[in-house]
Amino acid sequence: MGETVTVSVDNGIAIVTIANPPVNALGRAVRQDLDAAADRIASDGDIRAAIIRADGGTFPAGADIAEFPDVPAPLHGDVFDKIEALHKPVVAAIHGTALGGGLELALACHFRVAAEGAKMGLPEVQLGLLPGARGTQRLPRLIGAEAALGMMLTGKPIDAAKALKAGLIDELVPATELDDKAFEMATALMAKDGPLPRASQDSEWTRKDRDDPQLFDRVKDAHGRLFRGVIAPDAILTCVKAAVELPFDKGAEVEASEFARLLSSDQSRALIHVFFAMRETAKVPGIGRETPLIDIKSVGIIGAGTMGGGIAMCFANAGIPVKLVEVKAEALERGLGVIRKNYENTAKKGRLTDDQVESLMNSIAGTLDMEDLSDVDLVIEAVFESMEIKEKVFTRLDSIAKQGAILASNTSFLDINHIAAMTSRPEMVLGLHFFSPANVMPLLEVVRGDKSSDSVIATGMKLGKTLRKTPVLAGVCDGFIANRLMFPYMVASQQMLLRGTPMQDIDAAMKQYGFAMGPIALLDLIGLDVIDFPGEITMTGELVKAERRGQKLNGGFYDYDEKRRGTPAPAALEIIEKVRAAHGIETAPPLQADEILTGLLYPVVNEGARILEEGIALRAGDIDVTAILGYNWPSYQGGPMCWADIHGLDRIVSGLEKMDVQPAPLLAEKAASGGSFT
Ligand code: CAA
Repeated sequence: MGETVTVSVDNGIAIVTIANPPVNALGRAVRQDLDAAADRIASDGDIRAAIIRADGGTFPAGADIAEFPDVPAPLHGDVFDKIEALHKPVVAAIHGTALGGGLELALACHFRVAAEGAKMGLPEVQLGLLPGARGTQRLPRLIGAEAALGMMLTGKPIDAAKALKAGLIDELVPATELDDKAFEMATALMAKDGPLPRASQDSEWTRKDRDDPQLFDRVKDAHGRLFRGVIAPDAILTCVKAAVELPFDKGAEVEASEFARLLSSDQSRALIHVFFAMRETAKVPGIGRETPLIDIKSVGIIGAGTMGGGIAMCFANAGIPVKLVEVKAEALERGLGVIRKNYENTAKKGRLTDDQVESLMNSIAGTLDMEDLSDVDLVIEAVFESMEIKEKVFTRLDSIAKQGAILASNTSFLDINHIAAMTSRPEMVLGLHFFSPANVMPLLEVVRGDKSSDSVIATGMKLGKTLRKTPVLAGVCDGFIANRLMFPYMVASQQMLLRGTPMQDIDAAMKQYGFAMGPIALLDLIGLDVIDFPGEITMTGELVKAERRGQKLNGGFYDYDEKRRGTPAPAALEIIEKVRAAHGIETAPPLQADEILTGLLYPVVNEGARILEEGIALRAGDIDVTAILGYNWPSYQGGPMCWADIHGLDRIVSGLEKMDVQPAPLLAEKAASGGSFT
């Protein structure tokens, strides 16, 4: 056997152990070794049954995604078919997370026993793929097409107890008894005669599903949302239909051709990029296990407004006590009231008990005295975005906070170096930029000042994980990564309005691309009073002057009905007209959807290239992650930098030139050399 799979024989039972850390992914070496193990089981007369198990934390968590899109032989499905075809019983002993190809391997075994707490799932759809190792063919025969489709379309794993109920596994045992139970099963099975159960054979389910003409419409109705914009779900339906209607071999052919189609698609390229990029952000050159971390056992937050309150909730949720500081009693009371209301709403939905609400509230102590922050390990300032106020806060904080405490600002664009210079300990200062609502949004920008120490940065990155967010390291500049990146997008949308393209067309084009809403509707949602476009001609200031602040007050660009559906507001159209006249801007014929798309996205890519060349972001993938998690950029488009690579950098450069925009040097260089960002 090779290095990734070992086979030992004990009392006629071959114990096949997969060892390929960290997640026992089924890369080429593992497949070759499993293939050889199957040959040995077939040919070795001393072997009468087999167990397939894995070392480490988990049964295989899938194919080795790093191999995609080229999967070197032997193919997963062929190896698994060989295992299923054995005339000796094979038991899968499952622990951890049997995902994707890992679960498909278990499906090819004749019996399955799982440890309590194990999870099983087919998450390929999240990579723009489908279970391509006969999973779309075996699972419906085992648990019925409807349940199988639920797993494949959502990609969400189910726990072992549910798997037992569904008939996906045969036995469930405490984790400590898994190997013994598998051995016991194999011993009993090898003494039995008769055919082995094979999930490739038609079952009671196949017959039932064939007699259920509404089945696929029902599934599509139930999961309609999951089909929006993406191509994998329809391909999964096609394969499962084949599983119901065709013999296994024919269905397997359909699966192979659909899998190949998806594997070469732009969507799967984008989603696989995102999978790795999400994990890569945590890696900061020069910072590793040896970098000492600062223990954060208590936190102070200055400012109980929307941001401060949301940040306080993040820490309370993570079990870290918070002191929340405000200047006025009224503001403090209001802030605590909003937090309580948020928790109570969660409780109403059944996701918290009343006792949990009280205990969360008890972990947030309000105070009007900044001196109370003298003993906390970390202070996050979340006051109004004015450098003057921040200067005062940090000067005072420096005299209050204990030695060794980290001082952070939640500013979304101000200069962290300037803020750090207000203190006698700039090495302890960094930016921790949360996105609104802070208790919900999954992104945390960790902003490194010129003097921030490695320990402080390492602690900031670790904190992101503690708060269940994805931390991304950013350098100091206006808007850091996410806001700086999207600024040109917002500005370009305003210019399009001024040149005469209707707001609903602009928004529709971006929804078509995959955003939940377009830029104009987004401005209305964020609030027109919170957004500033210094030096740019926009309508937001005029709308605010007219007391239109967006969805929260009187509508903005749109008027909103009680169901929050927007129609272009006559008042906003008048303001657009007025601004246009004041600046002597001439209208042009309205842009088509593809022109809107490139007109809005090319400037984003260009800004991304600048962010990268200035070293504000460590990698193009980090920029993509901030766009996806901070601005809901559709992940199946890969984020702006991956999208740019797929779209074609030379097209973007010439498009920018036509728009009279200077391409960033890095973009121009990559386009000229045929390079890519991701
Ligand atoms: N292939 C290659 N690398 C993988 C991997 C896979 N299937 N799954 C995880 N990894 C890597 C991660 O990139 C990460 O590497 P680094 O430490 O270098 O960053 C490492 O393993 C640990 O992963 P996580 O950080 O995600 O660890 P976790 O404990 O939080 O989660 C997990 C573990 C639940 C298995 C999670 O990694 C996961 O969901 N993995 C993907 C599972 C998946 O999508 N499987 C389907 C693959 S497609 C397929 O199988 C097609 C087919 O039908 C043939």
